[in-house]
Amino acid sequence: MIPATLHQLKVFETVARLGSFTRAAEELLITQPTVSSQVKQLTKAIGLPLFEQIGKSLYLTDAGQELQITCQEIFEKLNNFEIKIADLKGTKQGQLNLAVITTAKYFVPRLLGSFCQNYPGIDVALKVTNHQEIQERMQMNKDDLYVVSNPHQDMDLTSKPFLNNPLVVVAKKDHPLASKRNIDIKELNDQPFIMREQGSGTRDAIANLLAQHNISVKVKLELGSNEAIKQAISGGLGISVLSEHCLISEGISGELTILDFQHFPIKRRWFVSHLAGKKLSVIAETFLNYLLEESPKMTFPQSSILGQLAR
Ligand code: PGA
Repeated sequence: MIPATLHQLKVFETVARLGSFTRAAEELLITQPTVSSQVKQLTKAIGLPLFEQIGKSLYLTDAGQELQITCQEIFEKLNNFEIKIADLKGTKQGQLNLAVITTAKYFVPRLLGSFCQNYPGIDVALKVTNHQEIQERMQMNKDDLYVVSNPHQDMDLTSKPFLNNPLVVVAKKDHPLASKRNIDIKELNDQPFIMREQGSGTRDAIANLLAQHNISVKVKLELGSNEAIKQAISGGLGISVLSEHCLISEGISGELTILDFQHFPIKRRWFVSHLAGKKLSVIAETFLNYLLEESPKMTFPQSSILGQLAR
């Protein structure tokens, strides 16, 4: 048996995950020399180097990578054990790790508000990111549950749909096409367009529709955030396609409008997914059921420019 302590493994796992001794010390609220000495003792116990420092970057060696996988399994099992014990004691207590795509940030935090009131013993870590990064997190089994619009076909996932997430063409209110109805999709050819970044699911959905109709938009600007795109539209840089949910806070005085293009909205749904082989913790299951039950009952703030959000 390798004489490693749980504390050493926790320190190692944090350094490996964050790629930095300093950031690990900050997260664990201990000093950097303590982090270094714990890793040093662990390295000695294992008998092989765990990290390699090249310039300013820290890399895991092969032994380090093996240990990182082992640590993830150990800490997941321990976490599940703690949750089960709390459940046996009649309290739901522990951590829920969620990762959601960018558009879900307009409702998941609100749902979490009531969830956390019902289960005060549950702490939540919520990561909001794009389609591609969610896929990477799934591959590394980083989170309990994922909210996505387009579950990855090439991964073995269990996914349940729960709300509609339509994509609409968004423009500045005074756009010349704002008062037109049933606009020919070919008109997109001439419009300066603001596009989400590579790896965005929104971008993929737009690209698919445009390819079907042989349209190539003039991409004026590429941005990695829906909110930044809204600002760029307001700034007159062009039009874009966004989830209707990104517009829920636009009031009558807002600067944006939805253009009535043919073949829009692009119909999509949100799914809650997890790796098919993953044994969900009691907490993850509690949240999953809560999400499926409560999300259809949610009322979204009415915006003057929106039709029905859940269409
Ligand atoms: P994205 O995903 O942030 O990757 O574009 C949003 C969505 O699919 O709704």
